Amino acid sequence: MFTLENKKALVTGASRGIGKAVSGLFLELGAEVWGLGTKEPSDLADRKAASNGKFHWISADLSDLNVAEAVIDAALKEAGFFNVLVNNAGITRDNLSFRMSLADFQKVLDVNLTAAFLTARTVARSMISRRAGSIINMASVVGVHGNGGQANYAAAKAGLIGVTKTLAAETSGRGVRVNAIAPGFIATDMTAAMTEEARTKISQAIPLKRLGDPKDVAAAAAFLAADESSYITGQVLPVDGGLFM
Ligand code: NAI
Repeated sequence: MFTLENKKALVTGASRGIGKAVSGLFLELGAEVWGLGTKEPSDLADRKAASNGKFHWISADLSDLNVAEAVIDAALKEAGFFNVLVNNAGITRDNLSFRMSLADFQKVLDVNLTAAFLTARTVARSMISRRAGSIINMASVVGVHGNGGQANYAAAKAGLIGVTKTLAAETSGRGVRVNAIAPGFIATDMTAAMTEEARTKISQAIPLKRLGDPKDVAAAAAFLAADESSYITGQVLPVDGGLFM
């Protein structure tokens, strides 16, 4: 496996699910990690204790777009710098397009796209000044292929892929790489709302015959964070069990 020794990483949406797995693996690989989420996770004390002082926590609601950049600036000041950003915070508010409220459309865009953009450009600015950094945006296969009941989420994730490629083009001459991961169906709180029947049906449709584990996504994030991926930028890496091969 790769090393993330001497790297400082900011991971948003780190309280549970994929973000928790990413921060755990980054710590294992030697990084110092700042986790961010709307509120302190119940296992924060254990996670801090296990990290030997290398796991820090920031509680913030990034959907408040008036303060999102200030929150990230404050995190940057506290950490000094970040070599790695994993823009992972995300929400769903599913409904058929015809029934979707404007508020639910907007909220999903605020968190999954606009806050992620503001976070990425704030961290990118500081990475450019150090001529080094890797930004990883957590998109979704839904952003590439669409999904019934998720017009808001699909739009946000498609937008995030656009931001990824654009920011990659804008920063590639300055030592910064920007990539996205497109997970398929991963077993977290986000997919726990599905019925057992729906989960079984989806598992059967996935070529690798199972839902993904958060650790599957964390491993991809570790690769994109590590120097071993230093010739890769502007890409979208699917982690979907072959769902869209
Ligand atoms: P989750 O629901 O288990 O965790 C979401 C995290 O985002 C939590 O830590 C939460 O505190 C944080 N968050 C939500 N709103 C926030 C806000 N306003 N400000 C700050 N933090 C906020 O979700 P999961 O499944 O771990 O997903 C993580 C990312 O992966 C999301 O961006 C999601 O869209 C994406 N993804 C997940 C898939 C899945 O099947 N679970 C599939 C494809 C993409």
